[in-house]
Amino acid sequence: MHREDMDEFVEQVTAQSDLLQIVQSYVPLKRKGNRYWGCCPFHGEKTPSFSVVPDKGFFYCFGCHAGGNVFKFLSLIENISYFEAIKLQAEKLGIPMPQRQKTPKEIARDKEIADLRKVNEMARDFFHNCLTMTRLGEPGKAYFASRAISAETIEEFKLGFAPHAWDKLSTAFLKRGVKQEFLLSGGLAAERQNGDGIYDRFRNRIMIPIADERGRVVGFGGRVLDDSTPKYLNTPETVLFNKRRILFGLDRAGRAIKQAGYAIVVEGYMDAISVFSAGVRNVVASLGTAFTAEHCKLLLRYASAIYFCYDSDDAGQKATIRALSIVQGTGATVRVIVVPDGKDPDEYIRKHGAEAFAQLVKKALPLVEYRLQYVLKHFDHDSLEGKVKALHAMLPVLTGIREPAVLGEYIKRLAQALLLDEGIVRDELRRFGHQPLPEDNGPVQREPIRQAVRRTDTALQRAGRIVIRLAAQDAGILQHFTAMVPLEGVNDAVQREILTVLQEFMAQGKNSNDTELAGRLSEAAMAEFSRAMVEDLGVLSETEAYSNAVRVLRKAYLNMRYVEHSQRAAELARQGDTAYVAELNQAQKIKSEMEELQFE
Ligand code: CTP
Ligand code: MN
Repeated sequence: MHREDMDEFVEQVTAQSDLLQIVQSYVPLKRKGNRYWGCCPFHGEKTPSFSVVPDKGFFYCFGCHAGGNVFKFLSLIENISYFEAIKLQAEKLGIPMPQRQKTPKEIARDKEIADLRKVNEMARDFFHNCLTMTRLGEPGKAYFASRAISAETIEEFKLGFAPHAWDKLSTAFLKRGVKQEFLLSGGLAAERQNGDGIYDRFRNRIMIPIADERGRVVGFGGRVLDDSTPKYLNTPETVLFNKRRILFGLDRAGRAIKQAGYAIVVEGYMDAISVFSAGVRNVVASLGTAFTAEHCKLLLRYASAIYFCYDSDDAGQKATIRALSIVQGTGATVRVIVVPDGKDPDEYIRKHGAEAFAQLVKKALPLVEYRLQYVLKHFDHDSLEGKVKALHAMLPVLTGIREPAVLGEYIKRLAQALLLDEGIVRDELRRFGHQPLPEDNGPVQREPIRQAVRRTDTALQRAGRIVIRLAAQDAGILQHFTAMVPLEGVNDAVQREILTVLQEFMAQGKNSNDTELAGRLSEAAMAEFSRAMVEDLGVLSETEAYSNAVRVLRKAYLNMRYVEHSQRAAELARQGDTAYVAELNQAQKIKSEMEELQFE
């Protein structure tokens, strides 16, 4: 793949992407002049401060300062990288991505993956047919019946049965031309100890195919029919099967998750199958491993809220607390569905029915509430030591509460429950606020959008944005500006970064609408650039606004130099160096220009 091909590809995708239409598919917008307004999807708000200016190709939120072009929007809302956003758009538009020449090693790996996928698919059909069409599948059928799993569910999830024999699958597959190495590397078979051939990994188990989010089978879970161990046997890690990244059921649940606005995460695939069959379709399961940051990231592409519904036993509660800490800090909303009387969701549904479970979902507890109940139950808060521990366990979630009224309420409840003074809780909270979060609070995946926010907005910064806006459209303006204010004289680091990149771009004859620009700018610079492009100039025309802006910035620049020369003069004078006179003259000259500017 050549660089130019890539540039052309990105250009083509950009040209065919309609920012307004894309934003509107996520956010309702209202038109006012050449600008559209809506409530920002990146922070909670009730009055619109999120704006899109289609002519300029930028969006910007005046509330949380998120901003950028169409790909930046997609990357933020889908929680994917900038480049992934370009690829996603290209896929939707049917624009093929230019292919890089693959190395022979890569070609071989691609082939291996494709072959393994095929073998996995064959295995899924083998187990499924064995269950539904052969006599060997009878024990499996009986087991599913005992758990009230219907024929439709078996069909929907393509559930299966691995026969009670050593090499049924291996023999059949070898006969059909599948190479032995694929049965081994795909985790379907293992080598015999005596080195004499291979045997099936899954035997006398009901089989649950596990797919990636695109529905391609990547592995299997097999459950015993009785109480023997191990209860579950999974495909080992293979090139396709990575438990940290796979969520069971996501291929089926994806759309429902988007619709509902939240995903339900359960511990086991049998739970997921049960919940799904009960009509609650936005459910996925982590595969017996802890919920990982990768799982979290994957889910946040579908919805901004995650509800955990783990077993209500001790281990399940611990796992819930761990999972919550993974999600905290990603900006996602978290709730916990509490299943009463020590049951898992599957048992609960079997005992109380689908409707009862749907009610549990409705009553899901907010993160803080769950944490508070957990802490009060698990810490002995009669002793002073226990109180302190309980208090500290609550601090990380309390700092996450935005609404003062809600925070006040929880502080009150916590103080009452621990028999502590509210003031003490507030003090501790304040102290904690200044400490970095402890390591085990989980990796923060999504860079909070707020980081791009700059707290102050001075006249100088407003002027800088006007210069940026005009300079981006006209290389001549940038030249004029740099003659008046050299870039190192621009005080604001973010604006200096933008102008420097713009200058390089224009020197290469490139257009500032170029998506490459977005790739070159830091997060903060991109937000500021977008703001510059969409900001309202009030009654002023662009040229009027520009000449005012240049005056303001030039004055600031002159003032900076005036101070420099004066200080230098003073220093030289102190050292008895007569060169101070020249410095003083310089300072004086600058001062008179500043005074002139005053009257312009
Ligand atoms: N698990 C596993 N290996 C085991 C036990 C459990 O991989 N030996 C994983 C499985 O993914 C399982 C999940 O952990 O789905 C939850 O385990 P558990 O609560 O014991 O299973 P249930 O889902 O309740 O299974 P069942 O209802 O079939 O007993
Ligand atoms: Mn169970």
